[in-house]
Amino acid sequence: MELTDLTRDLEALRDDALAAIAAAQDVPALEAIELDVLGRKGRLTTVLRGIGALPADDRPRVGAVANVVRGAVEAALAERGGMLRGSALEARLAAEAIDVTTPGRPIRRGALHPIIETIREIGAIFEQFGFVIYEGPEVEDDLTNFQMLNIPPDHPSRDLWDTLYVDIDGRLLRTHTSPGQIRVMHAEKPPIRALLPGRCYRYEAIDASHASEFFQVEGLMVDEGTTMGDLKGLLDQFAKAMYGADKRTRFRPGYYPFTEPSVAFDVECVVCGGSGCPACSKTGWMTILGAGMVHPVVLQYGGLDPERYQGFAFGMGVERIANLRHSVGDLRLYMENDLRFLEQFR
Ligand code: PHE
Repeated sequence: MELTDLTRDLEALRDDALAAIAAAQDVPALEAIELDVLGRKGRLTTVLRGIGALPADDRPRVGAVANVVRGAVEAALAERGGMLRGSALEARLAAEAIDVTTPGRPIRRGALHPIIETIREIGAIFEQFGFVIYEGPEVEDDLTNFQMLNIPPDHPSRDLWDTLYVDIDGRLLRTHTSPGQIRVMHAEKPPIRALLPGRCYRYEAIDASHASEFFQVEGLMVDEGTTMGDLKGLLDQFAKAMYGADKRTRFRPGYYPFTEPSVAFDVECVVCGGSGCPACSKTGWMTILGAGMVHPVVLQYGGLDPERYQGFAFGMGVERIANLRHSVGDLRLYMENDLRFLEQFR
């Protein structure tokens, strides 16, 4: 082995390596070249193994050439590496660029169910008259749903409420929110102004105006000197707030076992304005609730002295109120959760 041969090999190796480095397109390619040339089993090491065959005087000179070659390769690797890493970063930044000025995707907004919305509207009106919201249980006992409301067992007036019973003795699904009257009278001292919204149940043949599940809002006022005039004035104000200040209202005689006297409360038809149309069966009036003066027996069951206290109560069907507000003709729609219906109330 000659010194010149070895030097020539080293220079050839350098030229070869530098050309490969210049041609490398990415960092992994560069790393492969580094391993191939400078690695422990790389080509430079292999060439240098030939040093042993040289005369001792020549060895340092080859060593010096080898160091220059190694330095040149390392420098080229570093430079090309810097470039490739820089452009890799640039490419990534370009690919992953986020346009912060792009408008966001709209988030779909939910809305209140029309029944809940109607209950809240009713609540907001009566709250202005000092009424406070209470809630009673949906599974009631016969005592509170009927007997304490002056409806004894086997009394024919029970036929007004087709009742769903549950498998526990003496319990049933409340047929109206009126048992809440008893519960409020037990819980509070007069003056009482309570509003009781809630779900009720009846054993009904289901059609456009009958459901086995529906909502009512009950109202109860008890104080000394409460009169039918107070009831009439309050309901008139309610109807005007709900359906328009120009609407006329009227009381008609009615019957409920727990109020005496009892009335049906009518508002001028919201469709025809009173002239008579199919919506109001040509009467010009729409009945929106039942009401009356709390029966003395009911006050007694509520723990109150009927000689001292008087009260009035009213109960309205929320679906009916909502139907009139939104011109909906079938209360089954409120239960079906069909978005095509519900989305109209946003
Ligand atoms: N509870 C009665 C019903 O379900 C409505 C009502 C409530 C009537 C309060 C008078 C007083 O039909």
